[in-house]
Amino acid sequence: MNSGAGGGSGGGCAGAAARSRGGSPGGDGFAPSALGTREHWDAVYERELQTFQEYGDTGEIWFGEESMNRLIRWMQKREIPLDASVLDIGTGNGVFLVELAKFGFSNITGIDYSPSAIQLSGSIIEKEGLSNIKLKVEDFLHLSTELSGFHICVDKGTFDAISLNPDSAIEKRKQYVKSLSRVLNGKGFFLITSCNWTKEELLNEFSEGFELLEELPTPTFSFGGRSGNSVTALVFQKT
Ligand SMILES: C[S@@+](CC[C@H](N)C(=O)[O-])C[C@H]1O[C@@H](n2cnc3c(N)ncnc32)[C@H](O)[C@@H]1O
Repeated sequence: MNSGAGGGSGGGCAGAAARSRGGSPGGDGFAPSALGTREHWDAVYERELQTFQEYGDTGEIWFGEESMNRLIRWMQKREIPLDASVLDIGTGNGVFLVELAKFGFSNITGIDYSPSAIQLSGSIIEKEGLSNIKLKVEDFLHLSTELSGFHICVDKGTFDAISLNPDSAIEKRKQYVKSLSRVLNGKGFFLITSCNWTKEELLNEFSEGFELLEELPTPTFSFGGRSGNSVTALVFQKT
């Protein structure tokens, strides 16, 4: 289990989640939480939308700025073509899409099941003067048919949130893996950042149809003679 605290470098963490029943990854995983519900995220992004409209503040960057830089550095190192199709799963305020577009990526899509999140992303993208970003209200667990064929899928905190759903989280995690297989091209990359799941647990969650390509370095903590990572960032490839 990750420390779950804070998410590092100023960003939030959808969880700091308590394990239920000893925390076996094959079991229930986490104690259910409002953080796993659409109502929660609707309320969060309605508030953030209002703050953006009043003060121009884009709101929370989950896991902090460094979490976005880390992903873009990996894309650079891997020489991912700038026209590669990228899907940000649960894009929230869409700030990662903005960073991708500023870096030169030209085929990017953000989805979120919260209409307020998509409205906020749209407002931020418009203010930045960026026009070639696709946005869609979409529940990743109940996908519409036209969403497919992506070279890269990115998840920053969304699998964490889904894992906290009070209503059959295990099934929802399984459906997540099915949806991911559907939208990602063969040999496509999946970049996940989590503050609730360890590397070993994520390997287990995504063992069917995905193989680990790389673990991205994240900040470490040291406390009471023990050390570890508060955030896990992994790159999988669809097999
Ligand atoms: C912790 S926030 C992370 C937001 C964004 N990825 C970031 O890094 O700032 C989790 C996001 O996942 C979205 N989300 C949760 N479950 C979802 C689902 N089933 N389909 C689409 N989006 C979902 C929430 O609305 C929220 O925007």
